[in-house]
Amino acid sequence: MNIETKAIQSTTHTDAQYGSIGTPLYQTSNFRFRSPGESTGYDYTRSGNPTRNTLENVIAELEGGARAVAVSTGMSAIATVLAHFGAGAHIICTHDCYGGTARLLNLFKDQRKLEVSFVDLSDPISLFDAIKANTRCLWIETPSNPLLNVVDVEALSKIAHASKLLVCVDNTFLSPFNFQPFKFGADVIVHSTTKWLNGHSDVCGGAIVSKTTELGERFQYLANALGTTTGVFDSWLVLRGIKTLGVRMRQHESNAQAVAEFLQAHTNVSEVFYPGLESHPTHELAKRLQTGFGGVISFRVRGKFEKEVKHALGSTKIFALAESLGGVESLIEHPATMSHFSMGAELREKAGITDDILRISIGIEHIDDLLADLEEALNFSSLHNKQFKFSLKEEEVAA
Ligand SMILES: Cc1ncc(COP(=O)(O)O)c(C=O)c1O
Repeated sequence: MNIETKAIQSTTHTDAQYGSIGTPLYQTSNFRFRSPGESTGYDYTRSGNPTRNTLENVIAELEGGARAVAVSTGMSAIATVLAHFGAGAHIICTHDCYGGTARLLNLFKDQRKLEVSFVDLSDPISLFDAIKANTRCLWIETPSNPLLNVVDVEALSKIAHASKLLVCVDNTFLSPFNFQPFKFGADVIVHSTTKWLNGHSDVCGGAIVSKTTELGERFQYLANALGTTTGVFDSWLVLRGIKTLGVRMRQHESNAQAVAEFLQAHTNVSEVFYPGLESHPTHELAKRLQTGFGGVISFRVRGKFEKEVKHALGSTKIFALAESLGGVESLIEHPATMSHFSMGAELREKAGITDDILRISIGIEHIDDLLADLEEALNFSSLHNKQFKFSLKEEEVAA
């Protein structure tokens, strides 16, 4: 079955009792035992719930993994995976990862629970130099956020496996519709289901998908022990979102390609970061590994932060000024002061996340409306006129 079919089929045949097409919502914290010591298979929702299990099975199937556990947020997925490692383990992480991932890794580093190295993984050879005797995990985020650099998960996994590292891939940005990391060597995949998988900006959620049953059991154990498993209604909402993953992702991507080309040709934009553009440094790699380029674009505005950049951010009418991504609605944000603020100035500078970069998440609105909105926001003539009048006045005063 193709992924669009799987996303629907695996959510519609779950009710053996009544054959409901929609997934039953078992909104309960606990379950009655049949007799002492004999449960129905479920006893307490933190440990297991049929609605959440349906979501877990669907996500595992879409990613081609053995098992998944659905947790409360993308960050709780990351925290649960990190809980797998013993004190003093060394983690190597993509240097331009999501700010929240960097914040959590830095917290554990400061508390001396983990050793952490942020490494530019664009050249797989750099991984060799970073591996130490206590390295246990390679944490890959691809494409990177917000510069959308794709890394060679296949080459990196081979190097990591030679040193027995666990390869974890954060597949939030692409979703299983556009990238299947297990085919390229990943052992564990994490998701913020808040994004494309749910797709409607009404849930925060996460998932951990494991390639093997053994790892899957370990993460189920950890999620239950830490209490990070997600709520039942949120599971149900994500299940409903997943049914339309295929049509949504196609529309997101076709809009994104058109927007990226529009921005590339715009005089007030100096650089566009979108792997679907032939000019993107990792376009060929993305074409080889991925089945699509996703719906996130970043670009550099030609001008100053206090003037042109702020004007562009504050002038859109369809693109909402908001963090996050992956919903049906288009969003615009400023990584340096919003999504990547918590990363800290030093790491941001190292990763090339400068103040003139904006990130947009492309929704499924009509493309003509999206382009018109951006055209309006990138029209700086009113700003320049103001400045012109002002400088004229200054000259008049000086005269
Ligand atoms: C790549 C990536 N991973 C993880 C997360 C964290 O997800 P959540 O906000 O659901 O905790 C985010 C959030 O933006 C993200 O972009």
